[in-house]
Amino acid sequence: MTNAPYRDDLNKIVVLNPKGGCGKTTLATNLASYFALRGPTPTLVDCDPKGFTKCWLEKRPPDSCRIKGISSDDYVVHGNRNWPFRTPREAGAVIIDTPAALGRSEISELTHIANCILIPVLPSSFDVQVMTKFIADLLLLTDFDLPMAVVANRTQQNTKSLEMLMRILAGLEIPTIAALRNTQNYVHAAAHGLGIYEMPLFRVKRDLEQMDQLIVWLDEQLVRTFEPTFMSRVNPLPRLFAASGSGPSHQD
Ligand SMILES: Nc1ncnc2c1ncn2[C@@H]1O[C@H](COP(=O)(O)OP(=O)(O)OP(=O)(O)O)[C@@H](O)[C@H]1O
Ligand SMILES: [Mg+2]
Repeated sequence: MTNAPYRDDLNKIVVLNPKGGCGKTTLATNLASYFALRGPTPTLVDCDPKGFTKCWLEKRPPDSCRIKGISSDDYVVHGNRNWPFRTPREAGAVIIDTPAALGRSEISELTHIANCILIPVLPSSFDVQVMTKFIADLLLLTDFDLPMAVVANRTQQNTKSLEMLMRILAGLEIPTIAALRNTQNYVHAAAHGLGIYEMPLFRVKRDLEQMDQLIVWLDEQLVRTFEPTFMSRVNPLPRLFAASGSGPSHQD
C-alpha cells in the first residue's frame, strides 16, 4: 500500500438520495460512530452545506471514539474529489453524507469516488417513487459492479406502509439490506453527538440488530478492499459503550 493521494484502498461509503429527510445524515453519522468504535478512525465527509454532521461531531463527548470530520467548506465535489482521501495510512472507512437534490454531475462524481452506495428511503409512496427513478438514473451512471443497496428507514412493524414498501423494494434491481424502525433512539443519540452503537444496550437492542444487517452487507462488499491486517484489528465487540451500559439514557 502506498500513500498515493487517491486512496483506492479506503472504504468509501456514499449515502445518497435526492429526497430530503429520508435519513442520509442519520445513517452516515451512525455508520461513522460504528466504525469509530470498531477502529481504525473513520472520516465523515459532509457534502451538505447545512453542515449537520459538523454540528453532530462538535457535540460528541470528549471521551468518545475519534471521527475525523471534513465539512462541505473543506470539500468541493467539483474539481477536487481526491482531497478528502489524502488521509493517514492508518485511516479507516470514509462515510460521505450528501445533500438532497444533488445535480447529475455531482452524483456522477460521488459514484466515481464510492466503493459502495447506500440509499435510505422512507415508507411513503411518494418517497419510493422518487427513489425508484433515482435508482434508474444511478444505474446508468455507475459501473455495473458498484455495490448499491437500499435501507428502509423509519419503518413501523406490521403496517401496510411497510408491507407496500417491502413489496416494491423486492422488485428493484438492487437489494434492500435493512429496515430500520422509527424510534426516538436515533434522535436522542444525534442530540448527544452519538450513534446508536454508543447508547445503552437495553435501549437500542432492536435497533442494533437492524443496523447489524447493514454492517454485515457492508463488510461483504468492502472486504475485498481491506488491507490484509485490517480484519485482525477489527474489534469483535464494537458496541463498547452500549455493552457497558454507560452513555446517555433515554426513553424511546
Ligand atoms: N429511524 C429513525 N427513527 C426516527 N427518526 C429518524 C430516523 N431516521 C431519521 N430520523 C429523523 O428524521 C429527520 C431527518 O433525518 P436526516 O436528517 O438524517 O435526513 P436527511 O436525508 O439527511 O435529510 P436532508 O435531505 O435534509 O439532509 C431527523 O430529525 C432524524 O433525527
Ligand atoms: Mg442530511
